[in-house]
Amino acid sequence: MPTTKPTLVLITGANQGIGFEVVKKLILEHKDYHILMAGRRKDAIADSARLLKEIEPNASVEPLVLDLTSDESIAAAVQYINETYGYLDVLINNAGIGGNSARGPWPRTEWQEVFNTNVFGTSVLTDSLIPLLAKSDKTKRVVFVTSELGSIEWKSKPSNEFVLPYKVYAASKAALNMLAVNLAMQYSQDSTWKINLACPGHCATRFTDYAGTDTAANGALNICRLATLEADGETGTMSNRFGTIPW
Ligand SMILES: NC(=O)c1ccc[n+]([C@@H]2O[C@H](COP(=O)([O-])OP(=O)(O)OC[C@H]3O[C@@H](n4cnc5c(N)ncnc54)[C@H](OP(=O)(O)O)[C@@H]3O)[C@@H](O)[C@H]2O)c1
Repeated sequence: MPTTKPTLVLITGANQGIGFEVVKKLILEHKDYHILMAGRRKDAIADSARLLKEIEPNASVEPLVLDLTSDESIAAAVQYINETYGYLDVLINNAGIGGNSARGPWPRTEWQEVFNTNVFGTSVLTDSLIPLLAKSDKTKRVVFVTSELGSIEWKSKPSNEFVLPYKVYAASKAALNMLAVNLAMQYSQDSTWKINLACPGHCATRFTDYAGTDTAANGALNICRLATLEADGETGTMSNRFGTIPW
C-alpha cells in the first residue's frame, strides 16, 4: 500500500478533444497522479478511460459521470469524491460548448444553453469543490479553460475578424474569466492556491468541426502547465502556450 496520497485531479469534458489530451499528457508525465475523468455520457467517458489504459497500462484514471447542466449530477460527483477520497488537489474546468450559431440569430434559448454549461455549471461545480480543494495538502490548482474570444481587449480591436461572430460563446468565456479572477483574488494571499485561465488556441476538435489550425495535444500544453504548478507558480493569470493574454 502506498503511504503517500496520489495527486488527485478532476477534469471535466475529458472523454474527447483537448480534455482527453490533457489526461493523456498528465498520466504519461506524472505517475503519482490519479485522474478522475469526468464526462456527461457514461459510455463515452468509460471508453475514453479504457483507451488511455491501453496507451499507458499503469495509468491511474477513473471515469466519472458529471453533467454540468444538472445540479443533481454535480452533487453526486462531489459526494463521490468526498466519500471516496475526502480531498482534491487539482480541478480542471475544461468542458464547454460553442452554441449553435456563430453569426446569429441568438435567441434567449441559445444564451441559456451556452451559459448554463460554460458559466453556471462550471461555477456551481467549482464552488462545490472548494471545501475538498481546501483539504489538499499540496498546491491547490484550479484551471479554467477559456478562449481568446473571451478577451474584451482582444475582441475590441476593430481589425479582429471575430468581432461579430460567436457573440454568445465569447460572452460566456468573458463571464468565465471574471469567475476565475474572482476566485483567484479570494485566495491571492494564500500561496498554496493557484487559480488560472488557459486558452488552448484554435484546435482541431469536434468543437471546431476539426477545422482548428492546431492540434488538441498542443491545446493541452498550457492547461497541463497550469495544472502542475508548484508553490512558486503564478495565480490570477490568463495565458496561452505562448504567453499572457490581455483581459
Ligand atoms: N477547440 C478549440 O479551438 C478551442 C478554442 C478555445 C477554447 N476551447 C475550449 O476548450 C474546451 C474543450 O473544448 P474541445 O475543443 O476539446 O471541445 P470538444 O471536443 O467538443 O469537447 C468538449 C467536451 O466538453 C463536454 N461537455 C459538453 N457539455 C457538457 C456538459 N453539460 N457537462 C459535462 N461535459 C460537457 C463534451 O462532452 P460530450 O462528448 O458528451 O459532448 C466534451 O467532452 C472548451 O471549454 C472550449 O470552449 C476550445
